[in-house]
Amino acid sequence: MCGIFGYVSKTPRTAKETLESLRVLEYRGYDSWGVTVRSNKTFLVEKASGKIGSSIVTLPDSTISLGHTRWATHGGVTKENSHPHLSCDNSLSLVHNGIVENYQLLVKNLSKSHHFRSQTDTEVIIHMIEEEVGSHTLKDAVRKVFSKLEGLNAIAVGSGNGEIVVAKNGSPLVLGEGEDVFYLSSDATAILPHTKRVIFLDDGQLATLGKDGIKIFDLKSGNFIRKKLITLDWSVLDNDLGKYPHYLLKEIYEQPKVIRNVANTLVSEAKILATAVEKAKGTFLIGSGTASYACLAATYLFSKIDRHVNTSFASEFVYLEKFLTKKSLVIALSQSGETIDVVEPLNFAKKSGVRIASIVNALGSTIYRMGDIKILLGAGPELAVASTKAYTAKIAFLLLLTFTLANKVKDAQNLLFQAAGEIERILESSNLKKLKNIAKVLASKEHIYTIGRGVTYALALETAMKIKEVSYIHTEGFAGGELKHGTIALIDKGSPCIVFAPNDETYQAIISNATEIRSRGGLIIGIGPTKADVFDHWIEVKDIQEASLIPLVVPAQILGYYLALEKGYDPDKPRNLAKSVTVK
Ligand code: AGP
Ligand code: GLU
Repeated sequence: MCGIFGYVSKTPRTAKETLESLRVLEYRGYDSWGVTVRSNKTFLVEKASGKIGSSIVTLPDSTISLGHTRWATHGGVTKENSHPHLSCDNSLSLVHNGIVENYQLLVKNLSKSHHFRSQTDTEVIIHMIEEEVGSHTLKDAVRKVFSKLEGLNAIAVGSGNGEIVVAKNGSPLVLGEGEDVFYLSSDATAILPHTKRVIFLDDGQLATLGKDGIKIFDLKSGNFIRKKLITLDWSVLDNDLGKYPHYLLKEIYEQPKVIRNVANTLVSEAKILATAVEKAKGTFLIGSGTASYACLAATYLFSKIDRHVNTSFASEFVYLEKFLTKKSLVIALSQSGETIDVVEPLNFAKKSGVRIASIVNALGSTIYRMGDIKILLGAGPELAVASTKAYTAKIAFLLLLTFTLANKVKDAQNLLFQAAGEIERILESSNLKKLKNIAKVLASKEHIYTIGRGVTYALALETAMKIKEVSYIHTEGFAGGELKHGTIALIDKGSPCIVFAPNDETYQAIISNATEIRSRGGLIIGIGPTKADVFDHWIEVKDIQEASLIPLVVPAQILGYYLALEKGYDPDKPRNLAKSVTVK
């Protein structure tokens, strides 16, 4: 993860500019942050543990600056381990995204001759470069050192001589050209306020940013690569909270608009993808976390139209790729479009000539660019770490896709419009009051269980994820029929269980499962269109046939939000997490 930002400018600029850009990138990691500027050929650094919050920097104006927001992988969350890291003589600075898998070995070679100030895997890179710059240009020193790093990495190295060199293999890097200033960033959104003219660096490439502008080279051969700047026609994203106290709540409320947008604007994309599914011999859906639960839900939606698709966590798919053939289709789902666990198997698929369809929410992202078929969910920026509107947008699109395959596009659109209306109803204040009261009951519990069957099994997993990631209460999702095979041993008086009971073929069986739990003292929170006797609490979600899956998740999202507030946690930036997961 980690957010990287930097600039080289012909005239001095403020360090504040770097800090402000880090605020935009903070969703990528908020364990700590740091800024460096060049001053008289050496680098000065300010860094701190924790979120940026209202911090300021007091560094002088400079023609070179680098900044970093960290999601720690190696080395604790401390000020010393925060990036940027400097060479022993402070003439070089470094920010890094990734993991140097062989760092221990590399450190051994240098620990006697160099002064290490952190416990990170990162710091060794800058000392290795320091070893090489005497006899090489910075560009060649970086090339030489980068070739010795194992793992997926992106780095930016600032030099006291007035140059920045970046290199990447795995993690994202975008470069931007402004007037007399050149930028680098993990994400175009931090560059967009300054310039729309950008270059997306590919894996295996290096770039120099200096008085001659931006130059791109092949990392292995060192040969110059001609690469044109592209003009991004993106409006600066709406990051305003508006009337909402938190992004999580704002994004939950945006869902009706997002669902209608999918129904209105993604019909031709659904047709293109449906044709690709028809042609493919074997369709594989992959994603991570919440996106993986959308993939799992899709397998049930496809089964309703008598089609078989395969799904796997993207991180596990690397071990199953042998089943891909040139006729397979891989559909990758990702909000950020940067998740490394998704990028990795896609790299393999691409090399093997397998067709890729990307369904993402971030324009220009790595996974978006890798797709032979590119589908943008159009949910707008999702800034809360817990995914809500991107999830429902994915489900809405997958529903549209399966209905397109069954020649029922209009029916899908109608269902999606109804789902949007139902979300609006659920978000009315009387329902919110009810959910708040249930959250008060749940806040003191150590464990919460969630169950569903069929497509709501996928929903039970997503609900568990939503609640646990923001409230830190251990919440676990199960297939309704599975609980009695072991986990029911954990149920005792007051154990809360959220039960999804939609009006479909799963209803009777899931009510039986709820009854089994209640007979052992469990507290049942039922979500569905019909109030059953077994429910201690009931949250009504009206039946909208296959699209019920969309509004059914909303009470769970709201419960998660209220639980985070009840427990005094930040619902937007839960501990230990990051919005964009670019390390393995
Ligand atoms: C969702 O609430 C999570 N924070 C997380 O599981 C997320 O869905 C996962 O990391 C995948 O992200 P992506 O959709 O950006 O690929
Ligand atoms: N491995 C580096 C660290 O822990 C960078 C982490 C990252 O890219 O998330 O500092």
